[in-house]
Amino acid sequence: MPGIIVVGAQWGDEGKGKATDQLGGDVDVVVKFNGGNNAGHTVVIGDEKYALHLLPAGILSPTATPVLGSGVVIDPEALFEEIDAMESRGIDCSRLVISANAHVIPPYNRLVDRAVEKALGAGQIGTTGRGIGPTYADKASRIGIRIQDLLDEEILRARVTRAVREKQETLGAYGLEEEIDAEQITQQLLEYGKRIEPMIVDASLLVNQALDANKKVLFEAGQAVMLDLDHGTYPYVTSSSTTAGGALTGVGVGPTKIDRVIGVAKAYTTRVGEGPYPTELFGDEAEHLRELGGEYGVTTGRPRRVGWADAVVLRYATRINGLTDIVLTKLDVLDSYETLPVAVGYEVDGKVTREMPVLQSEFAVAKPVYQDLPGWQEDITGVRKYEDLPEAARNYIEFLEAQAGCHISAIGVGQDREATIVRHPLI
Ligand code: GDP
Ligand code: IMO
Ligand code: MG
Repeated sequence: MPGIIVVGAQWGDEGKGKATDQLGGDVDVVVKFNGGNNAGHTVVIGDEKYALHLLPAGILSPTATPVLGSGVVIDPEALFEEIDAMESRGIDCSRLVISANAHVIPPYNRLVDRAVEKALGAGQIGTTGRGIGPTYADKASRIGIRIQDLLDEEILRARVTRAVREKQETLGAYGLEEEIDAEQITQQLLEYGKRIEPMIVDASLLVNQALDANKKVLFEAGQAVMLDLDHGTYPYVTSSSTTAGGALTGVGVGPTKIDRVIGVAKAYTTRVGEGPYPTELFGDEAEHLRELGGEYGVTTGRPRRVGWADAVVLRYATRINGLTDIVLTKLDVLDSYETLPVAVGYEVDGKVTREMPVLQSEFAVAKPVYQDLPGWQEDITGVRKYEDLPEAARNYIEFLEAQAGCHISAIGVGQDREATIVRHPLI
């Protein structure tokens, strides 16, 4: 079972970091394939709590090789801040390697990200402001800067100068007259390049060689299916391919190398940023669930929007990713509820559908059709065996499993690495 992909099955923050960290001890390579420091993963190991952004969660495994694939976008300043912070806590980051083809987030793209959001006003996406969208846009427009470009002063200067011409115009159009100094940025990036140089590899070759040698490789996603550039709630999405297909292009491996695709899903739902969200709760009900789940963003500290479980989204995640397994997280957060509504379909214009509506305008007004399941009203945080869960908790899991059309193979019952019930081994 060498190739395993881990993806988010909702709107992000499902607990991918914890799942990856857990599997990380049993794998040889952990490769992040999309996104950048817009991600935020909290991993709790005993008394220690780690907040990861750009680094793969696999960095916490002392044996796996952590890799940033070519689909990742890298802000060098954020990279070294994170590495230095981890190293100061005794986490060895010396094994980290980076694809020569990954793109760099230059400082002007943070400015563009924020200027565009400001100009959108009420229509804003609610981005993390890290320059993610503009950097993927530059990549597609062929004015991006790659990690390998940091190694050649002439190439870098030419690319930065070319991009700055456009950026200056863009920022001007948004009323920002700040002068961008192409030469200063070139020099700054060259400095970062010196530190990055020893980490640069052909990530596709490294990963394929590991797979061919029957080593275990974990492909780690940032974000999630509903934030995917192609399959999410566009334009309220991130700008990368967050789904299983993105793991292939974002690293450079073929689909024949993948044995398992694991979707991580919360036992309820959350979303950060704007965009449609059918099962969203409001007012006191939302506040209550947010507090129970500690639902505040790791990257921006924003309160997360919260809502009931949505089986239509899980079914969609299963289809888009070809999921073989689901890891259901944060079941313990629902311990106190008497009744747990689960959306099994949507009503749109008087018609009920079990599948994701074709048109986003329909999704935006979709009314969830709920099925109420009984809660267990018991503390399950100490449970480690599936059969020791209360019957109502098992019913809830098996109901979601049947609705999603995918095995729920592991269940999270607490923040700590150990607080997991494994029903079917994932590796
Ligand atoms: P990611 O972005 O998908 O890695 O998820 P985040 O780390 O942003 O958010 C998930 C949060 O839930 C983190 O604070 C985790 O420590 C926490 N978490 C993960 N699994 C569980 C679980 O089973 N129970 C509880 N109570 N917390 C969990
Ligand atoms: P992890 O990996 C939740 C959201 C932002 C915004 C939209 C676009 O921790 O699950 P961007 O800065 O990417 O251009 O923002 O995507 N978003 C996330 N939401 N979890 C994340 O990552 C996210 N990364 C981006 O809130 O709505
Ligand atoms: Mg997160």
